[in-house]
Amino acid sequence: MSGSRVLGTGSALPRRVVTNAELAETVDTSDEWIVARTGIRQRYVAGEGETTSTLAIAAARAALADAGVEASSIGLIVLATATPDNTFPATATKVQAALGCQGGIAFDVAAVCSGFLYALATADSLLKTGMATRALVIGAETFSRILDWEDRTTCVLFGDGAGAVVLEAPSGEADGAGILGTRLHADGDQHDLLYVDGGPSSTQTVGHVRMRGPEVFRHAVVNLAAVLREVLEDTGVSVNEIDWVVPHQANARILDATARKLGLAPEKVVVTVHDHANTSAASVPLALDVARKDGRIKPGDLVMLEAMGGGFTWGASLIRM
Ligand code: COA
Repeated sequence: MSGSRVLGTGSALPRRVVTNAELAETVDTSDEWIVARTGIRQRYVAGEGETTSTLAIAAARAALADAGVEASSIGLIVLATATPDNTFPATATKVQAALGCQGGIAFDVAAVCSGFLYALATADSLLKTGMATRALVIGAETFSRILDWEDRTTCVLFGDGAGAVVLEAPSGEADGAGILGTRLHADGDQHDLLYVDGGPSSTQTVGHVRMRGPEVFRHAVVNLAAVLREVLEDTGVSVNEIDWVVPHQANARILDATARKLGLAPEKVVVTVHDHANTSAASVPLALDVARKDGRIKPGDLVMLEAMGGGFTWGASLIRM
């Protein structure tokens, strides 16, 4: 049986664009280095009045409009973020209040850059058990607020944004649409390769992103290729049958290397990293929304989502749109 169905998608970005050239005015870097090593040309950075919740709310409204459903029909909100507005309550509850659909379930999921995959799998599972019939699954981040803007090895890589998906419980329709298979993993031994050096219970500060980039890169290619193969095996789908891969947008070279390892045609990979940089949990739903709205991803297409992030955590999900 197919899993939950995608009814609509939406996304939101802060007003302000920051180019590589602008960053080069304050840290020792260059547009050439950033483009050659990452593919990133610009990122969006939240300004006054823009927070993870305002971006999430805008993306959620866009997804509801795209799906053509009322906010009142949403019984579950799962929001993936590593940059919540407050330590608590969950940012998902702010979204719920803004949309006016109180009374259902709302909570955040923390799995950093693979947060959206974790949130999607959680929502899919809850919908299948009948806890709700419609869900909003959101990835929203303001990573600009946890960057060390003097550390050129991290500050050039990230951006802010949000993406959202309206998901509906499996209806048993014959078209086969829905989530076909998902795999999630974590390896807590890799904590020190990518983490934030602060938190309420350790330092009572928010902290900054710290990363050993080249090591993260190597793990990412191996783990992502492996988890994609697992989902293909689980679902009995061959790599050639995939219409689109919507990966986490960390680095264009990771996307190329993973596609090569799998024998996947590069033109099937949705790439938005040049525009958005790495928006952590927001990157997969943002890219999914871009590729649906520009007409690349169509109803009936077979779409593979995949991501890896701090923890490490990683996962992939195959969806018939
Ligand atoms: N501008 C200019 N030079 C920079 C720089 C910057 N922004 N950042 C690092 N450098 C320098 C380094 O200091 C190093 O200099 P050295 O050779 O004199 O020591 C050189 O560039 C190469 O650095 P290195 O870290 O080996 O480059 P890289 O090719 O591995 O690219 C990353 C660095 C971070 C772009 C890359 O490793 C990466 O994308 N890793 C994965 C990141 C990721 O996916 N994170 C999120 C996972 S969710």
